[in-house]
Amino acid sequence: MSLPALLQGRLTLPLISAPMFLVSGPDLVIEACKAGIVGTFPALNQRSSEAFEAWLVQIKQALQTFEADTGKQAAPFGVNLIVHKTNPRLQADLEICKRHQVPLIITSLGAVPDVVETVHGYGGLVFHDVATVRHAQKAAEAGVDGLIAVCAGAGGHAGILSPFALVSEIRQFYHGTVILSGCLSTGRDIATAQMLGADLAYMGTRFINTQESKAVADYQQMIVDSSASDITYTPEISGIPANFLKKSLAVAGLDPNTGKAITEEVADSQKSGSKELNLGEELTAPKDGASAWKSIWSAGQGVGSVHDVPSVAALVATLHEEYVSATIEYAQLSREYALKIQGGF
Ligand SMILES: Cc1cc2nc3c(=O)[nH]c(=O)nc-3n(C[C@H](O)[C@H](O)[C@H](O)COP(=O)(O)O)c2cc1C
Repeated sequence: MSLPALLQGRLTLPLISAPMFLVSGPDLVIEACKAGIVGTFPALNQRSSEAFEAWLVQIKQALQTFEADTGKQAAPFGVNLIVHKTNPRLQADLEICKRHQVPLIITSLGAVPDVVETVHGYGGLVFHDVATVRHAQKAAEAGVDGLIAVCAGAGGHAGILSPFALVSEIRQFYHGTVILSGCLSTGRDIATAQMLGADLAYMGTRFINTQESKAVADYQQMIVDSSASDITYTPEISGIPANFLKKSLAVAGLDPNTGKAITEEVADSQKSGSKELNLGEELTAPKDGASAWKSIWSAGQGVGSVHDVPSVAALVATLHEEYVSATIEYAQLSREYALKIQGGF
């Protein structure tokens, strides 16, 4: 297991609550860190750098108060920065992270040595999202501390590789921290991610359905009502392929299986609307009132394991119980396997 010193002994579970556009904010992050897992949010969930900084202050104060009141140590928190030319706030937001010494920076879309240098300069960590081996190699060369293997079926901009393929290829050249992302929803999934060779599990969709998430109740109910076959992987909504709930595509007047326009009115507005990657602003609505991420809802194929909307604290307690029973069960099985290794399966 390869965990950076900054995380060692600080977690109740090897788990990160993943950053999610329009979904994760201070309430989710604070409760995650209080429960002993890494809580994260995208800087762009706030409309301006000043408002982003205000969230950082709020999170730091809440965690300091928690530590003073309970004598317990909260888990470190993280911020997701989009390292892409469409994000004009990158430098300003990075400066703010430096000023507040944000423990973990999660970069997506570009692994830039300058960003890594700045974060390492104040003692922080950089984990970088990768969906391909080529991107993993580039990020490793840029000196990141961890690679987040974003595999098939993940919520948001998912990859297309199986975790068995991506994690094992990454492990052939990378000895830093590997974090597995995509369809992980239970404590057993966390244990399985570790068996697969990952050090940490990364969960997005499961945390959309928590009381502290910013997702509206209809979104959460749609997740409860959905299973893997209710997810469509399409580039139509945000310019690069992402997973969306079919029912939300249908409500927006789009073909639920492709995300493409099915009416003339929608087709016209799509032609004039932006299909460029533009994470700084919500994308142009394909139909009045429907905008990507805001009412066309993203979720991963793991939705079939999400049946409720607990508090973050209750969810982490459940994940912990499931993780413990999965590891105990595996310890028992491994005795059986050891006998079979000698006597044959
Ligand atoms: C609604 C939604 C929004 C997301 N927004 C972001 C984002 O802004 N930045 C990012 O790096 N990843 C984003 N992701 C991806 C997650 O961080 C994570 O990789 C993914 O949710 C893991 O897969 P899972 O949902 O199957 O657990 C988003 C995912 C979802 C579901």
